[in-house]
Amino acid sequence: MSPQSAKKKPASKTKRAAKKRRAAATPENNVKPKLYASLVVQLRSLLKGEHDLIANAANFSALLFNSLPNVNWAGFYFLQGDELVLGPFQGNPACVRLPMGKGVCGVAARQCETIIVPNVHEFPGHIACDVASNSEIVVPLFDGERLLGVLDLDSPTIGRFDDQDAEGLNELVTVFVAHEEGLGL
Ligand code: SME
Repeated sequence: MSPQSAKKKPASKTKRAAKKRRAAATPENNVKPKLYASLVVQLRSLLKGEHDLIANAANFSALLFNSLPNVNWAGFYFLQGDELVLGPFQGNPACVRLPMGKGVCGVAARQCETIIVPNVHEFPGHIACDVASNSEIVVPLFDGERLLGVLDLDSPTIGRFDDQDAEGLNELVTVFVAHEEGLGL
C-alpha cells in the first residue's frame, strides 16, 4: 500500500462505510414506528366484526399494556358531563373521576391535545393513581370536533414517552374511534 492510499480511503470504501453507518442507525430509529405499525394491524384485527365499545376498549388497552415496554398502566377515561370517568384499562385500580382541566388527563382533554409528561412529579396538579408511575402520555379521543375522552398511559421510567409514541398512539386512537363511530361513544 502506498503512503498516499494509507492516508486517504478510496471513495467506494467511504461510501460503503457511510451506508453501513446508516444501516446501523436505521433499525434503532425504526423500532417504535415498526412496533406501532404492527399494533395498528393487530388492533384492526381485534376490532373486526365487533362493535361493543367496552369489549373493544378493553382489548385495545390489553394490547397496549402487553405490547409496549415499560408501561404500568394503559386505559381510557370517557367524558361524561364535565368529568372524565374511568373506562376499560390494564394496571392497578385507578381514580374513577377526573375533573376537566385537572391532572394530565384533564389538561389534555381541556386543551384538546396530546400531552407527554417526562416526569409526572414536575407536572403541576398531576393526579397520582399509581405510585409506580413516573412518566405519562395522554391522547385525547375525538369524533370530529367532539371530545369523547382520553387514552392514558403511565410508565415507571422517567422520559419513557416521545413524539414517536405520540404519533403511534394517535394513529391507533384514530383507527379505534373510526371503528366505534356512530355507536354512541
Ligand atoms: N395521572 C393521571 C390520572 C390517571 S392515572 O394516571 C391512571 C392524571 O394526572 O390525570
